[in-house]
Amino acid sequence: MKLLRRTALALAATALAAPLALAQSAPKLKVGLMLPYTGTYAALGNAIENGFRLYIDQQGGKLAGREIEYFKVDDESAPPKATDNVNKLIKRDHVDVLIGTVHSGVAMAMAKAAKDSGTLLIVPNGGADAITGPMCATNIFRSSFSNSQPGYAMGEVAAKKKLKTAVTITWKYAAGDESVQGFKEAFEKGGGKVVKELTLPFPNVEFQALLTEIAALKPDVVYTFFAGGGAVKFVKDYAAAGLKKSIPLYGAGFLTDGTLDAQGDAADGLLTTLHYGDELNTKRDTEFRLAYAKTFKLQPDVYAVQGYDAAQMLAIGLNAVKGDVSQKAAFAAALEKAKIDSPRGTFTLSRSHNPVQDFYLRQVVGKENKVIGIASKALADPARGCRM
Ligand code: BEZ
Repeated sequence: MKLLRRTALALAATALAAPLALAQSAPKLKVGLMLPYTGTYAALGNAIENGFRLYIDQQGGKLAGREIEYFKVDDESAPPKATDNVNKLIKRDHVDVLIGTVHSGVAMAMAKAAKDSGTLLIVPNGGADAITGPMCATNIFRSSFSNSQPGYAMGEVAAKKKLKTAVTITWKYAAGDESVQGFKEAFEKGGGKVVKELTLPFPNVEFQALLTEIAALKPDVVYTFFAGGGAVKFVKDYAAAGLKKSIPLYGAGFLTDGTLDAQGDAADGLLTTLHYGDELNTKRDTEFRLAYAKTFKLQPDVYAVQGYDAAQMLAIGLNAVKGDVSQKAAFAAALEKAKIDSPRGTFTLSRSHNPVQDFYLRQVVGKENKVIGIASKALADPARGCRM
């Protein structure tokens, strides 16, 4: 009899508590992924999403007690469509945070929309210097790099090797232009001279006429920024034109990251600079690589790391504000003093919210970008024009 009464009381208490618990459970956190899922950067967008989801899944699918709900837009790496695309996430889906994107031009449109609307934005690739320069803001962060950083690191390497003349070749948009400017600044400071800057429109891959021009100019070195499908074609065409034997090809590491299977022997021996590489052999990186390979049956690349770290950065900010994204200043303050435990190595954020990180010198050996040294230690974004 006593037992029955106790059970009835317990049931009544549960019935009362249930609506309360429901009312108190935090609403889902709406994450808007705006990435390229088609076009020359499609593989990059997929790797970023994989990395992001891996970290979230490792946290049991929740950050700061809030379950994650994803909203996705394929930005096609198309700047003219970027404002409409980002507004689908901000105005239609009412996301709490934006994650995107790969292409600098599209990322700049996202940064403008984030600044205007106050939506949190973490950029997991797009390196446009302006995002952490004049467009910097309390609610905008980057988990990747700024375009001039890998180029600057490679300019220092080329100058130290006492190379005197360089020709640059890239796509004519922010990423290519700024990568080349970074290279040129460091190379010329070290005594070299960029004798010709060759460009073609993004995402054009008709390289033949420009390769003929390089052969005629005979510089000591060629510096390049290409990524994704375009990088695969450029490396193959450079080798097929017979240039690989006579003029060393140096690149920002995107040239050979996530592309080596498709490039084959044409990439063998190439030197690049990047904030990630293979065989870092740290406990953190090894665990990340094993988890990534097990989940996706793929080897991770720099884009996967940047996606993973975007999720880690979101977690740090959200934990500091107990999941309340409206507390932007406190969210930013937590990230500004954080040490982010990345597979690439620990990094901090500069005052403009860009990673301050080591740039590795890597050489392609077989199917790996083997780290052979540090080209630039704790390199910070110059953050020109950033006022916060
Ligand atoms: C960019 O547009 O910023 C970019 C694209 C691919 C790789 C690296 C940078």
